[in-house]
Amino acid sequence: MSNEPVIELKHIGKTYFMEGGLSQEVLKDINFTVTKGEFVAIMGPSGSGKSTLMNILGCLDRPTVGSYILAEQEVSHLSDNQLAEVRNKSIGFVFQNFNLLMRRTIADNVSLPLIYRGMSDKARRETALKYIDMMKLAGNQDRIPNQLSGGMQQRVAIARALATEPTIILADEPTGNLDSTTSDEIMELFTDLNKAGKTIVLVTHEPDVASYATRLIRITDGRKEYDGLVKNYKELSK
Ligand SMILES: Nc1ncnc2c1ncn2[C@@H]1O[C@H](COP(=O)(O)OP(=O)(O)OP(=O)(O)O)[C@@H](O)[C@H]1O
Ligand SMILES: [Mg+2]
Repeated sequence: MSNEPVIELKHIGKTYFMEGGLSQEVLKDINFTVTKGEFVAIMGPSGSGKSTLMNILGCLDRPTVGSYILAEQEVSHLSDNQLAEVRNKSIGFVFQNFNLLMRRTIADNVSLPLIYRGMSDKARRETALKYIDMMKLAGNQDRIPNQLSGGMQQRVAIARALATEPTIILADEPTGNLDSTTSDEIMELFTDLNKAGKTIVLVTHEPDVASYATRLIRITDGRKEYDGLVKNYKELSK
């Protein structure tokens, strides 16, 4: 594993401001670095700020304070358009509910993020088929998501996340809607991707899912409470 930093968070805070002058400080002084090739699980109670943190990591949202350096670029103060550009170039996001376009084919879903690359239709389809193949979905390219099982749909989402060859794969409870056997299949895929060099950060409530990662970051009430090897986190096995 190289020591090349992919993600550097320094004193990240996030406060949501609501109507009526109410505000809620959801992330407090979060600091950590993720280096190339790491496989990190983020855990913590419901409402502790995990998704808020993932949305910042994924350039879907900005921190209120602090510095976020993604692949050597400071991204905490970028405009929405600039963030979208960074997102398309550097981030592969996998969501709990798959987030597929239900009226489009599997090939279309996977090739869609490549539109912004200025690739020809043919090149986009070829790239999509390569990742559909890699996710063991060969033959399904012209079907629509509803014709596939939940596990297969999540594999389509992972193929879509990979197609742009992002710097990092972010997954927010990617197995949250799947049964335990299918969860294990998906986690084996993430493990293979990580072994092939992909950097992965994944949120989960499930100790079994977290145990596929090497490093665990635990968030409680918006603060980092634990950051170390998964296997050293005793409470995981309780
Ligand atoms: N857009 C928003 N506006 C206001 N408050 C928000 C917003 N998004 C999240 N919050 C609040 O921030 C806190 C953290 O939410 P977040 O979704 O990050 O938690 P989480 O750790 O992902 O929880 P879960 O495990 O249930 O997914 C919660 O109290 C939530 O109500
Ligand atoms: Mg969440």
